[in-house]
Amino acid sequence: MQSNNQVKQVKVATWTELQDRIPANALIADVDLVIIRYDNQVSVFFGRCLHRGALLADGYIEGNNLICGLHFWDYRFDTGVSDYNNEERLQKFSSWIDETNNAVYVDENEIRHWTNENPQPYDRNSYLGKYADIHGTPEEPHNNYISELARNGLKNFGHHGQTSAMGVPLTELPRWDGIQIVTAQLAHRPLMDDEPVKTKLAIGYGAKKPLVLDIPIFVSDMSFGALSAEAKTALAIGAEMAGTGICSGEGGMLPEASDQRFRRYLHI
Ligand code: FES
Repeated sequence: MQSNNQVKQVKVATWTELQDRIPANALIADVDLVIIRYDNQVSVFFGRCLHRGALLADGYIEGNNLICGLHFWDYRFDTGVSDYNNEERLQKFSSWIDETNNAVYVDENEIRHWTNENPQPYDRNSYLGKYADIHGTPEEPHNNYISELARNGLKNFGHHGQTSAMGVPLTELPRWDGIQIVTAQLAHRPLMDDEPVKTKLAIGYGAKKPLVLDIPIFVSDMSFGALSAEAKTALAIGAEMAGTGICSGEGGMLPEASDQRFRRYLHI
């Protein structure tokens, strides 16, 4: 409750009509609220999901959480904090129960004060009204366009509707997102497919004893124990024949691992 405001007590629900752990809605100062009675206590929160603004009074209670009915985001019904991500928290408004008058009250001034920082965008008399999706997501780039058509028809586009240059459909034009730039190719021009290349490489060029491989492929890290002694030895011999090495894995090691004939690297 804002201490610098006078309390303006308004009834938000009839106490005995609230069902235990069944979310109820209310509208105060043009702010949707969700009210949850649990045993002999009550919580009043901002009534819209922080994800896409769904009405939380359309959700349900599961355990200690108020669950949004659309994509199941959760909020503790006593604190408004999301169990899943504690950074997300529904605004909780002051509320109190007056059993004599059979009412739950909130402070309208507190809610109005909150709307200064959180103006509510819903035009309740227009198309979609309180169910409008004011967020949208990158996965749904055309929702606003569809809503505009539903709201105003072609009034704002002219009778041809939306057009783009030369009639090329926007979705078929190349986009930056579709171009993959291989940064290595910015430094050296790539070779043609049939040009011979050296595959030899060294790991640790500046080291006293760099690990030199004939090919940029090695036998991966499966330790002795995961593989039998015979399999490890066979793979080491095969790797050596191919001009590369074998990784120790992080488990057991064979005594032969120190055999200088093999290029081995230690998995740490
Ligand atoms: S709108 Fe509530 S979870 Fe998506």
